[in-house]
Amino acid sequence: MQPSAETNGKPNTLTITDNRTGKQYEIPIENDTIRATDLRKIRMHPEDFGMMTYDPAFMNTAACRSTITFIDGDRGILQYRGYPIEQLAERCSYLEVAYLLIHGELPNEAQFEEWTQNITQHTFVHENIKKFMDGFHYDAHPMGMFVSTVAALSTFYPTAKRIDDPVERLLTIYRLIGKAPTLAAFAYRHSIGMPYVYPDDDLSYAGNLLSMMFKVGEPMLQPHPVLTHALDTLFILHADHEQNCSANAMRAVGSSRADPYSSAAAAAAALYGPLHGGANAEVLYMLDEIGNKEKIPAFINAVKGGERKLMGFGHRIYKNFDPRASIIKKLADQVFSVTGRNPKLDIAMELERIALQDDYFIKRKLYPNVDFYSGLIYQALKFPVDMFPVLFAIGRMSGWLAQWQEMLLDPEQKISRPRQVYLGRAKRDVPMLSQRGFAAG
Ligand code: CMC
Repeated sequence: MQPSAETNGKPNTLTITDNRTGKQYEIPIENDTIRATDLRKIRMHPEDFGMMTYDPAFMNTAACRSTITFIDGDRGILQYRGYPIEQLAERCSYLEVAYLLIHGELPNEAQFEEWTQNITQHTFVHENIKKFMDGFHYDAHPMGMFVSTVAALSTFYPTAKRIDDPVERLLTIYRLIGKAPTLAAFAYRHSIGMPYVYPDDDLSYAGNLLSMMFKVGEPMLQPHPVLTHALDTLFILHADHEQNCSANAMRAVGSSRADPYSSAAAAAAALYGPLHGGANAEVLYMLDEIGNKEKIPAFINAVKGGERKLMGFGHRIYKNFDPRASIIKKLADQVFSVTGRNPKLDIAMELERIALQDDYFIKRKLYPNVDFYSGLIYQALKFPVDMFPVLFAIGRMSGWLAQWQEMLLDPEQKISRPRQVYLGRAKRDVPMLSQRGFAAG
């Protein structure tokens, strides 16, 4: 949301009348918001706590001021630090975008070289991480392994706790962006019983991930440039999305001054859910289940009847179109020209066509989101479905770190601690166990 600047000479305040008491309150407006704590002066009796807002799921609550990502959901606009996502996807690499998110400006050539070198230097993980991975069951979900090993990094780098030290913070940023693909690939290799492949510093960020995932006997795996580019672009599209569920987890956990590895693990855990980063995998399961175009109408009816959700559709913020979905659709064509067409694409396109003409979806402003087509590309790149949320997490790592750093440097932020409206029992006495009878509770 971007605030409107004009007040046309009128006072930039909100006047609230409390009809219970007849009292009026004048509340300052800043950036089209009022401070929730200003409402506390609205009370019936002097001993009252005062008025709060009730906003489950933060539908209309700004929890921070941010300069990182701008989204206009009605107009399908997404910008990182003011740059349109379409231009970033076309003109930059993921590591340039990661630099932009962290530092606020795009790097020049010298800055980019230094940044890339620092990240590349930190792609290796401690050998003990391999033992840690080995401890997981053979069929452990890679996202569970990723979340756990990101958290485990905090035990390897205890000085990362010094979150007020900018040098430590930057070192953690290099490490987390550098090591995320290594942990992801190790988790995958463990799940298929293949030896871990060490990072190759001569490859690009995305190329290195493909090598660590898929290298078998060859001395060096040189991924196809179109495929490397597609993966890199997907990382850009997933890099940040303002105050989404996982960024909020990163900020909330980080606000207790937990170390950044633990905070990033919490963010990755939030991303794991099927309504967030798990949705791209759910799309593929859904397309598999539908199986062929003839079964689409029955599936749509089940969605309209409330029995199912159309995964990869709908968004809390975008109510027109998701600009990331439009870029991904074009990317899919480039990838399929190299890998051959994913047969599920036809089902996906038909599903989209039917849904976009249907009143149920039109009325609720439900459009394909970033996850509707991303899974098809990941699958064409030979990533197993369980790896999809892990890929999302790799791209989102830079966004989480930018959000975390902004939160730490914001003098207005404190430990994150929402209020509640208590509707439980009033104070009562505790009966002894023998006096509670069968019907207690
Ligand atoms: N399929 C069918 N109905 C839907 C869907 C869907 N995918 N999404 C929303 N609706 C309906 C919902 O049932 C509700 O209907 P009604 O008004 O009759 O109760 C209405 O649309 C409003 O939905 P909501 O659940 O109140 O919206 P929300 O903002 O709380 O949820 C969402 C947003 C993304 C969780 C939801 O749209 C959803 O579950 N989509 C499917 C999962 C998905 O694709 N998630 C990826 C999001 S993009 C990647 C990311 O940022 O993580």
